[in-house]
Amino acid sequence: MEVMIYPSYEEQCRAAAREVADVLNAKPNAVLGMATGSTPLGLYQELVRIHKRGELDFSHVTTFNLDEYVGLPITHAQSYHHFMHENFFSHVNIPPANIHIPSGTTTNYRAFCEWYERRIVEAGGIDLQVLGIGTDGHIAFNEPGSSLSSRTRLKTLARSTIDDNARFFDRREDVPIYAITMGVGTIMEARHLVLLANGARKADAIAAAVEGPVTAMITASALQMHPSCRVFLDEPAAGKLKMREYYDWIQVHKPGAPKV
Ligand code: PGA
Repeated sequence: MEVMIYPSYEEQCRAAAREVADVLNAKPNAVLGMATGSTPLGLYQELVRIHKRGELDFSHVTTFNLDEYVGLPITHAQSYHHFMHENFFSHVNIPPANIHIPSGTTTNYRAFCEWYERRIVEAGGIDLQVLGIGTDGHIAFNEPGSSLSSRTRLKTLARSTIDDNARFFDRREDVPIYAITMGVGTIMEARHLVLLANGARKADAIAAAVEGPVTAMITASALQMHPSCRVFLDEPAAGKLKMREYYDWIQVHKPGAPKV
């Protein structure tokens, strides 16, 4: 894991957007894994800005979203279909046929999940996966106890996740209890991972994921086993990292390392 800490959320998002842009410039038909939630909003805004300046083309890009609530129609204001359309897809030029978001309304979840996994493989695998982290250490909706080799499946949300996400709904009872989510094993097969976290409420989860033991109790800790994972943080989210000084040292000295 490479930990990068920025003085502000805006700078953190700009740096993460550069990472996405670098992948697209090297491979215009890259496959991107998308995340929802409040965390990646700034990243999407920055990507839209670069696109509108005419410096980033998404016309050959394929996307796969991490997860979706079960039971919400795609037109529901809190569905991840709606979120992605509002905040990203309607502002860039990804062909609609290339966009994949898990279905929260299928009548056959098992078959849908198998199809979703197959589609990722058929598309050539995910080149860059964007990730947020839950206060319980989840990535996507892989709640504590999820197998670290899990695949796309229907998942029962933790109470803490329902509490966290209640802020987006009129009433807590309106938050769905189930979601369809890529598994930890699915995420680990992406070639490159970008994990974003901001704000002090993520500091414990980040410390556990980055510096704690690898455990299914904090599914983000599985990312320690990934060969190419960058963690983009603002200062408050980095507040509980014990090795902070070393991460700063690396950021200063890495650019001067001998080029292989
Ligand atoms: P948030 O959610 O970005 O809204 O904090 C992150 C997550 O639960 O993965």
